[in-house]
Amino acid sequence: MDGLRGNEWHEANRRSWNAATVAHNSHKRDQAGHLRRGGTTLFPEEIELLGDVSGRRLVHLQCNSGQDTLSLAQLGAVVTGVDISDEAIDFARRLSADSGLPGVFHRADVYDWLATARDHGEQFDVAFSSYGSICWLSDMKLWAASISAILADGGRLVVIDFHPVALMFDERFQLAHSYFGNGQPHKWDDGVSDYVGRAGALLAPSGIEEGVRDFQNPHATYEFQWHLSAVVTAVLDAGLRIDRLREYPFFNAAKLYNDMCEGPSRRLYLPENVPSIPLMFGLVAAKPGCA
Ligand SMILES: C[S@@+](CC[C@H](N)C(=O)[O-])C[C@H]1O[C@@H](n2cnc3c(N)ncnc32)[C@H](O)[C@@H]1O
Repeated sequence: MDGLRGNEWHEANRRSWNAATVAHNSHKRDQAGHLRRGGTTLFPEEIELLGDVSGRRLVHLQCNSGQDTLSLAQLGAVVTGVDISDEAIDFARRLSADSGLPGVFHRADVYDWLATARDHGEQFDVAFSSYGSICWLSDMKLWAASISAILADGGRLVVIDFHPVALMFDERFQLAHSYFGNGQPHKWDDGVSDYVGRAGALLAPSGIEEGVRDFQNPHATYEFQWHLSAVVTAVLDAGLRIDRLREYPFFNAAKLYNDMCEGPSRRLYLPENVPSIPLMFGLVAAKPGCA
């Protein structure tokens, strides 16, 4: 596709995320103040999957602008955030300074960062990957094996993301994409959208402002559909033991389809007359050994 490969897809995605991240943050009011006042951007589902993170060395992979990473610092985790987007990591560093919550942030391709961390013998108790991260991974097996290499014995990989079944449907809830993506990139000419501007308060717990209007992303993206057993098999092949696998009938705050019903805790459900499908999944996998 377009003659691009591996890192070139990632670099194209970096440009698209740089543009979109500015638009996304423009809609979120006083994020540092929200965190300083003890506010969080986390949802109950990841808090349940992560368990007690106090004192744990936690790396948040594809952390974007660090709001969730710093919310985890608020819970006592010793956090590192990694993301390919320059804008996102610049913002995360400023948010850490302005909120007074400590965090180390690296701007890097997740694959490059994992390889370097492994070579330097870095070890983490928790690797966390969340909401809209899996679809940017061009090599599922390499991702899982690289995470396994930086987990301490007894350390855990915690994933919460959109379910691959949910990603088969377009915004009109029409079946539009194959379940089995086979690691092939799908090009989106319109790039990362301003979904924060569209979701409004749902994705902005600190409050909403008008911010950037009529955002058009000039940078295309390349995304990857990984079916559930591709993720599970990669995690098992990486030598991790799957302790929990969950499926949820709602999205947390993300309005991926036009017609959705809002429930408590910023959950979005399919309308009542539509048969249910899994919209998100969660996974916890442990590296054998004593923590
Ligand atoms: C939907 S966001 C994830 C949001 C995140 N869960 C949070 O807490 O805000 C997806 C992120 O993946 C990042 N990303 C995409 N490809 C990447 C890569 N190859 N390496 C590192 N980060 C990448 C993007 O820059 C973007 O910030």
